Amino acid sequence: MPAKRSTTIPAARSATRTAASGRAAATSRRAASPTKQPARPRTRAPSPDGATRTATSQPWLHQKGVVIQEFGTVRQFPIGLSYDARMYSCQRLNQTLADTQILYALYKKHHWLMRGATFYQLHLLLDKHADEQLELVDQIAERIQTLGGVAVGDPRHVAEITRIQRAPDGVEEVPAMLSRLLEAHEMILADAHDAAARTADMGDDGSNDLLVSDVIRTGEMEAWFLAEHLVDTPLVQA
Ligand SMILES: [Fe+2]
Repeated sequence: MPAKRSTTIPAARSATRTAASGRAAATSRRAASPTKQPARPRTRAPSPDGATRTATSQPWLHQKGVVIQEFGTVRQFPIGLSYDARMYSCQRLNQTLADTQILYALYKKHHWLMRGATFYQLHLLLDKHADEQLELVDQIAERIQTLGGVAVGDPRHVAEITRIQRAPDGVEEVPAMLSRLLEAHEMILADAHDAAARTADMGDDGSNDLLVSDVIRTGEMEAWFLAEHLVDTPLVQA
C-alpha cells in the first residue's frame, strides 16, 4: 500500500499557516520580552480527518493589539436611537461617569481618613455611600456601552475629564471633608438635571431614566444625609 499523502484539507492548511505565522510573530515578540517564557508543552491531538493539529494549555502572554474602537465614537446598534442621540448621550454620560468615579474615590478617601467623636457613624455612612456610587459607576458605564460608545475607565483618563476639584493629599478637618463631598454631589446633580432633559429631548428615554431614577435620586438622598451632619446643633443641652 503506497504511503498515504497528507490528508490535510485546504482550510486546515490555511489555518495551519495562519497559526504558524502567528506563532512566528509571537516568538519574535517573546524575544523582546523581558520575561522568560516557560517551554510550551504540546501534545498531538487525534483528528477525524487525519489532519495534524497541536494542542497546548500554555496561555499566549504579553500580547499587544490595536485599538478597535476609539474613545468618543459610537458603534451602530439597532436600538431605535439615532447616531446623533447616541453620540450626545455617550458624551454626557461619560462626564457623569468620570465625576461619579471621582466622587466614589472621595467617599473612600474620607471613609478611611475620618476623625473625631462621630468617627464610627461617619466611617460607616461614607462607606455605604461609596458602595452606592460604585453601583452607579457600573450602571452608567454599561449604559454607554449599550449605546455603542466607549466608557471612560482608566483613572488617569477619568482625572483628565472630571470637573471635580482635586482634594489635598493630606487630611482635612471633618466639616471640610463633608463640604467637599456635598460640592461634588451638587456638581454632578446640576449636570445630571441638564443631561436628563436634553437626552429626553433627543429621544433617549433610557439615559433619561438612568440619570433621573438613579444618578439624581441617589445623589439627592446622599446629599441630605451629609448635610444633616453640618447642622450646628447642641448634643446635650438645648
Ligand atoms: Fe472600609
